[in-house]
Amino acid sequence: MAATRVTVIPGDGIGPDIMSATIRVLDALDCGLTYDYAIAGQTALDKGKDLVPQETLDLIEKNPVALKGPITTPVGKGFSSVNVTLRKHFDLFANLRPALSIPGVRSRYDNVDTGTRRGNLGGMDAGAARPAGGGGEGAERRRVIPRRESRRLVRFAYEASGRLNRRRVTVVHKANIMKSTSGLFLDVARSIAKEYEDIEHEEMIVDNCAMQLVMNPHRFDVIVTTNLFGDILSDLCAGLTGGLGLAPGANVGEHKGIFEAVHGSAPDIAGQNIANPTALMLGAAMMLEYLERNEDAERMRKAIRFVVGEGKVTTPDLGGKASTSEFTDEVIRNL
Ligand code: NAI
Ligand code: MG
Repeated sequence: MAATRVTVIPGDGIGPDIMSATIRVLDALDCGLTYDYAIAGQTALDKGKDLVPQETLDLIEKNPVALKGPITTPVGKGFSSVNVTLRKHFDLFANLRPALSIPGVRSRYDNVDTGTRRGNLGGMDAGAARPAGGGGEGAERRRVIPRRESRRLVRFAYEASGRLNRRRVTVVHKANIMKSTSGLFLDVARSIAKEYEDIEHEEMIVDNCAMQLVMNPHRFDVIVTTNLFGDILSDLCAGLTGGLGLAPGANVGEHKGIFEAVHGSAPDIAGQNIANPTALMLGAAMMLEYLERNEDAERMRKAIRFVVGEGKVTTPDLGGKASTSEFTDEVIRNL
């Protein structure tokens, strides 16, 4: 297979530690990837550049995929999140967050295998916000649910479910109260669901969904929902399977994907070589799958899951004593 160029953004805080660990595993797989390094976030600001410099946008544009470390969102006026900026700029309409138990990892449930497909464009991330009325007595934020984005997202969820032999799609909404916005999303979902007779279509109100996920996560297969609900429910799902340190995520559009860990830049443990690189490594495995290098993806995922599950060489967040590099060595030994 020809070489594929990957745009690599190490990111802030623990980003460089977990990114170099992940690249070591990709190199050990020897699957013909080459890298273009780019900067964003605090790292870019420190060099006197924009939060997302034009060179970075150009490199992401040039290559089919990007692998992105966590980015510190500077606190203050005028900074929007790098993640939201990239999703909009590259029209990455779907955010995929699988939640898959790793046997051996202590968590509330075993054998959870679900995933959230969350709308990236539209919803609360897209709405304009303003203080309402005079004197700071309140504030408001508009929620916009675009029909085209909803269609693309729901179709994507059903298409992927068919390919992966998923049996049920749960559409999560709040159309009983938010009749216009959630109502539109639900309407779109119903009309698309009709085209996929082999996959069960289910509808669930978001608050009930949160409870059902905690009580019986095994009943869920694929969840598809709008931006804010997906943000919250996917973290809940990560919590069911061992926490954010293990949760990968992907942002995909028609022609491009940006792969990442769900967690942030963890400034409290930055530069100490103790961060857990599992989530970013699993994000890289999703990237390999997106590039249709399924065998490499499977080798990588298997080795990571084995080492984490066995629990002999793990980082402190999982109760172990290993450094980031020792954990990475162990993953490479098990490829
Ligand atoms: P965080 O996820 O960075 O950290 C929360 C807690 O989890 C900390 O105690 C941290 O040490 C621990 N943790 C996170 N990842 C870990 C890992 N791989 N290994 C071991 N421990 C880990 O969330 P926080 O502190 O709220 O945010 C820090 C910064 O990250 C903020 O600037 C925030 O805006 C940014 N952030 C960026 C994201 C992204 O780029 N995708 C996502 C979430 C937050
Ligand atoms: Mg979130």
